[in-house]
Amino acid sequence: MRKQIAAANWKMNLTLQQAEELLDELHSIPYSLDKDQEVIFGVPFPYLAQVEQKLAGRNNVYVAAQNCSDKKNGAYTGEVSAEMLQSIAVDYVIIGHSERREYFNESHTMLAGKINLCLEHGIKPIFCCGEPLAVREAGTQNSYVETQLTESLFHLTAAQLTGFVIAYEPIWAIGTGKTASNEQAQEMHAHIRSIMANQYGADVAGSISILYGGSVKANNAKDIFGQPDVDGGLVGGASMVAADFAVIINSLK
Ligand code: PGA
Repeated sequence: MRKQIAAANWKMNLTLQQAEELLDELHSIPYSLDKDQEVIFGVPFPYLAQVEQKLAGRNNVYVAAQNCSDKKNGAYTGEVSAEMLQSIAVDYVIIGHSERREYFNESHTMLAGKINLCLEHGIKPIFCCGEPLAVREAGTQNSYVETQLTESLFHLTAAQLTGFVIAYEPIWAIGTGKTASNEQAQEMHAHIRSIMANQYGADVAGSISILYGGSVKANNAKDIFGQPDVDGGLVGGASMVAADFAVIINSLK
């Protein structure tokens, strides 16, 4: 069975002290994880290691970086490589978040390169895709997302994509309080799975966890996660409120 995942994306928020307080508060609230369920914390680079330490010994709880370089190593001041993340035992990396695509001009090819480096270093990518409002209004979201998947994932092998994680995040729903409807989410998730099935077969497609992101909150997580092709969420704002994130975790199938 594919994994059901509640992933937090803290973005460029929280000091180390605030992050520690948030985790203390979250862990004072009971939440339980089955063997096919995972919680992932997308943490700013400077305190990935501290957060890892704080989470040590918790089953099915992992740490993600929010980005990594598309370069292997060398004279790239300010960049962080997949190899560095591997050396501090980071489990996942969020790749191609819409904010990185938009503000840092990350291209399909660059994202493909980042994914390769992650896989070479035993780190699991969480590959983000999703359309802006204008594309949704024009009704061309299906081909838009298909291009994102084709250009950044289709060079991978079936083995590399088995158990892979994709996050569908419609840009118009991120941080806006405007969630995709359950039907819109299910429709796009089924579309993504069928694209992967056409290319790699039903078994590979069925093993891929497809997370929904965009204004997931404590009061809508259960409905969205309940859709057959939605395997959890990538959560920004609500992941930084302990009580809300606990409800979201407990909403996993
Ligand atoms: P949001 O962010 O939950 O605050 O909408 C989601 C994301 O950008 O991953």
